[in-house]
Amino acid sequence: MAATKKIVMSGIRPTGFLHLGNYFGAVRNYVRMQDEFECYFMVADLHSLTTHPDTKELKGNIQRVLAENIACGLDPDKAAFYCQSHIYETSELYLYLNMLAYKGELEKTVTFKDKVRLQPDNVNAGLLTYPVLQAADILLHRAELVPVGKDQEQHLEMARNFANRFNHRYGETFPEPQAFNYGEELIKVPSLDGAGKMSKSENQMATLYLSDDDDSIRKKVMKAKTDAGPSVPNAAKPDYIQNLFLLMQLVSSTEVMQKYDAAYNACTIRYGDMKKQLAEDMVRFIAPIREKAEAIRNDERYLQEVMEKGMEKARRSARATMEQVREAMGLNYF
Ligand code: TRP
Repeated sequence: MAATKKIVMSGIRPTGFLHLGNYFGAVRNYVRMQDEFECYFMVADLHSLTTHPDTKELKGNIQRVLAENIACGLDPDKAAFYCQSHIYETSELYLYLNMLAYKGELEKTVTFKDKVRLQPDNVNAGLLTYPVLQAADILLHRAELVPVGKDQEQHLEMARNFANRFNHRYGETFPEPQAFNYGEELIKVPSLDGAGKMSKSENQMATLYLSDDDDSIRKKVMKAKTDAGPSVPNAAKPDYIQNLFLLMQLVSSTEVMQKYDAAYNACTIRYGDMKKQLAEDMVRFIAPIREKAEAIRNDERYLQEVMEKGMEKARRSARATMEQVREAMGLNYF
């Protein structure tokens, strides 16, 4: 018998547009994982209600997230790609886990404290129990591996605590979910203004979105900060120049990279030329993804098929887990 594949689960927020940082930091890993593991990738539409109670744009946002991820190579025939709200079992498990989560620990969560600061007029209980819902997403599939960035480590730690508490009280039911990445340092994609990384909400002019048209890509790259160039051979590169090289490394050929690196070291580099080259390589990288995502987004029938297929796969797994959960809890009166 073939060894069973480990189960992978991750959630994607349906707010904001996918950018180059999301691609190299997350999506590329999902695409790689779907060949090796049993994957559940979920659009976290219920989570978004904690901060975006207005649902007018939700459907469009979900369609965009699905289309963009599929355009990047996520394959709905390999992974279960589904919407959180389609899996009612999530809400049931969330309820049970809420009884195992303590007000004190929820109030101490960094993301909760951030949100309280950002939206003091809407500190709802859903916001407080956000990590419990996330734990339900993960434990519902008895997932062991969760590909997420550093910002989600605390939530994952809490999911492990809830799983352990459940197991301890009602009997071994859930494996402990662990953060996963492919060994290498998580790739951080620097923003074009030399400050921090590309981000969904901040510095839009310094962030390259997978939906940017060719001219915006060129404009953004050409605006990136440079200076008069090094005055001594083999000088250390300032951060904002190093960032341009990092971006080049992601989308340009090795020869191109080496050419500009050598020019830098010889003090003959012309940043205008380097940025023109980088802009064209970016366009060549982003344009096909953008066009594919647009085509998928315009194909409602296909998107509906994707959602249905994902929903069915995710429900099958959720139902099996919930039967075990109710059994373990003694909620089986017939
Ligand atoms: N909270 C995650 C984020 O902000 C999204 C998410 C929801 C998630 N449910 C999940 C991530 C389950 C991993 C596993 O990005």
